[in-house]
Amino acid sequence: PLTARVNSHEFLEIGGCDVTTLVQQFGSPLYILDEETLRTACQQYRDTLKQYYQGESQVLYASKAWNCLAVCAIANSEGLGIDVASGGELYTALTAGLNPHKIYFHGNNKSHAELLYAIESGVNIVADNWYELQTLVELAPEQQPVRILLRLTPGIDCHTHEYIRTGHLDSKFGFDPGDLDEVFTFVSQQPALNCIGVHAHIGSQIFERQPHRDLAALMVQWLTKAASYGLTLTELDVGGGLGINYTESDDPPSIEEWVIPICEVIQEACAAENLPLPKLLCEPGRSLIANSGVTAYTIGSSKVIPDIRTYVAVDGGLSDNPRPITYQSVYRAVVANKISAPITETVTIAGKHCESGDVLIKDAQLPKTQPGDILVVMGTGAYNYSMASNYNRLPRPAAVVVANGEANLILQRETYQDLIRQDRLPERLKQDKE
Ligand code: LLP
Repeated sequence: PLTARVNSHEFLEIGGCDVTTLVQQFGSPLYILDEETLRTACQQYRDTLKQYYQGESQVLYASKAWNCLAVCAIANSEGLGIDVASGGELYTALTAGLNPHKIYFHGNNKSHAELLYAIESGVNIVADNWYELQTLVELAPEQQPVRILLRLTPGIDCHTHEYIRTGHLDSKFGFDPGDLDEVFTFVSQQPALNCIGVHAHIGSQIFERQPHRDLAALMVQWLTKAASYGLTLTELDVGGGLGINYTESDDPPSIEEWVIPICEVIQEACAAENLPLPKLLCEPGRSLIANSGVTAYTIGSSKVIPDIRTYVAVDGGLSDNPRPITYQSVYRAVVANKISAPITETVTIAGKHCESGDVLIKDAQLPKTQPGDILVVMGTGAYNYSMASNYNRLPRPAAVVVANGEANLILQRETYQDLIRQDRLPERLKQDKE
């Protein structure tokens, strides 16, 4: 985080708060969100678009990265809209006070209930497939057409993890480009559908610069084609996908380096095609919030396997950060209470789950640690809390937002009671306690 510094006790401070004190106060493990870093990223996206794009623009925060009331509220207060991918994310965004016109609802298999909820709330629906278009026509209220964007699969490949690539043709998302004529014909004949734009998302944690330029050019061609069907599409949403530096060797483009070429390509292509500039939308998730978040853990047991490896275990693991076991993601860590101590050890940070693959960091470079030390894993603001589980019935950690020396709880730590809240014990299974 931008506000990370070493304080006079030689301890790590974020947002003006001593991390070890936060853990004493709010417990461990603890997600910590640095408000200033998050706001700065929101402003960078927003202001770069304003400066370099001559048409209207809107940044949408892809809230799947971390959806909760406080994060939605911060994005909202920076003028961002929100991308939601389920009824639950939609509910959270609306409860946080978002204007429905600034919410965009994604998903390849939205339920009837979700679509009805979206229609009644007046949010924008990003229609993904034929089944959804037909369902929307059935559900749309007579007097009021539903505002939709069409998600198309661009067939653009980029080099990222297979699970998070979405733009290549073999993707479950979006209409196949071969269907373009049929889709535009259908939509132009449905008074129940008010099609306002096109959308594409080509993947996540992308470092390459070319794919989004190609995408921007291709999407302008879609607008031209739509016009030939009498559809005036005024919104163009290029999705998200900009990668971040999880480790020092990662070198992703900056927000500016990602946004500016997209603006330029769209402007040039629209000028060449004689098209009015569409409203440009983008949907960053990871690059908006990952570096605003860290997770603080308490170090417990360790195991030395001579000549092979030393395991150092923390009080969380794959339940609060499933990314290493899911995508072999790499993280870096520091010890909050030994921030200036010399780095002398290479250890493997293990979680506490009953699973050997529950390793957060292989070969972390740390000072000598002991039980009770506070290990801080960096860059956990995206896809950590939002992908957390209760595996082994671990209660999910608390989260705090820090700013100017103040820390506020934004997610309460789950309790054991929370864990059995939805459990039901059928009468016939009840046994008298001896
Ligand atoms: N828009 C759409 C339609 C998306 O599907 C996504 C991410 C985004 C925007 C935001 O992409 P970002 O800027 O965060 O790259 N759980 C995986 C990431 C899955 C991303 C899914 N879609 C991970 O932990 O790496």
